[in-house]
Amino acid sequence: MKRSLVVVSNRLPFVISTNENGDPVRKNSAGGLVTALAPLVIKNDGYWVGWAGNDLTENMQIPESDDPTAIAHGIKSSQIIPIYLSKETFDLYYNGVCNGTLWPLMHSLPTLAVFRGDQWSAYVAVNELFSNSTFEAVKKFDNLDEKSNLVWIQDYQLMVMPMMLRNLLDEAHITCKLAFFLHIPFPSWDIFRLNPWANEILLGLLGCDLIAFHTNTYASNFIECCFYILGARVDRKEMIIEYGNKTSVVRALPIGIPYDWFEKNARIAPKPFNFKEKVIFGVDRLDYTKGIIQRVRGYERFLEKYPDCREKVVFFQVAVPSRTDVEDYRNLKDELEREIGRISGRFATAEWTPIKYICNNISQFDLAGYYRDARIGLITPVRDGMNLVAKEYVACQIDDPGVLIISPFTGAGETMNEALLVNPLEQDLIADAIKTAYDMKYYERKLRMNALQTRERLFNLDTWLESFFDAVDMIDNFKKMKSLN
Ligand code: G6P
Repeated sequence: MKRSLVVVSNRLPFVISTNENGDPVRKNSAGGLVTALAPLVIKNDGYWVGWAGNDLTENMQIPESDDPTAIAHGIKSSQIIPIYLSKETFDLYYNGVCNGTLWPLMHSLPTLAVFRGDQWSAYVAVNELFSNSTFEAVKKFDNLDEKSNLVWIQDYQLMVMPMMLRNLLDEAHITCKLAFFLHIPFPSWDIFRLNPWANEILLGLLGCDLIAFHTNTYASNFIECCFYILGARVDRKEMIIEYGNKTSVVRALPIGIPYDWFEKNARIAPKPFNFKEKVIFGVDRLDYTKGIIQRVRGYERFLEKYPDCREKVVFFQVAVPSRTDVEDYRNLKDELEREIGRISGRFATAEWTPIKYICNNISQFDLAGYYRDARIGLITPVRDGMNLVAKEYVACQIDDPGVLIISPFTGAGETMNEALLVNPLEQDLIADAIKTAYDMKYYERKLRMNALQTRERLFNLDTWLESFFDAVDMIDNFKKMKSLN
């Protein structure tokens, strides 16, 4: 079925930069969100609302794609609704609230969160711009009474715009469902209430008909926040919230990966490592939630505690630079590089380097080869909404399967029970998990990996989209099922 659709996210499905003549050009952007949603916007002739970036100004034309291999190639410039922000506003909104306040708080790291009223005002103002532009896009729909009309808003950068948009649509008597997906964790109410603007965020989200999260834990945390902080009426069993005259359905819809794509490319991707040692592999955005410092220290403990394993393993860590304008991220890079240097200096020999470190982007295609050839996938965030790397690692174990070590503080860790689960905050536990993985015999690796692969193959990215649209189409039925208190 084709439906009128607007996708709204902070970033557009490609990056716009300028070439040597000063003309804007599109650059591909990889990542789960674009892979999932670009085909959807193309298929439905939909619209995509997002921040234009620093290079595109209002007097410039949005460029068409000249790369037929790009996932967003089929999205025409007329389908793109750019949001222009001054550098100053962007700084207050993105570096300030999104990544200085909400990111640490939502990841249950409240001591890192900074709360500033001027930044919050910018966040609200930017959300209003997104809401107004989305409203203009909806007005272009063919039929403004059609029940399947949908706006799908993504992630923590846009949590107050849903109610703004709901009000605009209601005033204009336009029929349109609003849905929201949070790609990061939703913390317990006792953490969330530290946010001075907790009420405004909850109220903003309750403008949606459907509010979806990766896990049941996040979904129930949200319901409890609405109950305790707002005093909303909730049905915990049916996962429905009523506040004033608005009813919202809450669902856990765990995202998956394009499994077949990774499996296929793992068969043809080039061989990345040319050393004889077993490879322990990690790849993350350079973010403090990913637990990279704790991971390298856990590896250090492994080398200390199991000296026989020295020179038989190499830890290969890829860190993709991220949010470099935020101080905590810059400090993290410095600290990580100091630690890697220290540990290398402590254990390296003339023939052997214990850690290889790349601080750069690696293409998804090449990554499939890194995953395939790594004996151990070491994925140990201190907190992570889902973690797609764990799933990608699993999809690429095509021949001699490796061992996945994962932190239970990730969405993925809640279901990937056949992996080795390790608390990343204790170095000895990481060290012991690496040793167990290192020693694990073929038949056990195969058994565990088969089970992990079966689940991820089944609950892949397409299944996620299907479950999302099933939920959207059932919203009116779900709303009737409430018995609220
Ligand atoms: C996480 C968030 C996304 C975000 C991405 C990259 O996955 O859930 O919303 O886009 O990180 O972060 P950035 O700040 O570069 O957009």
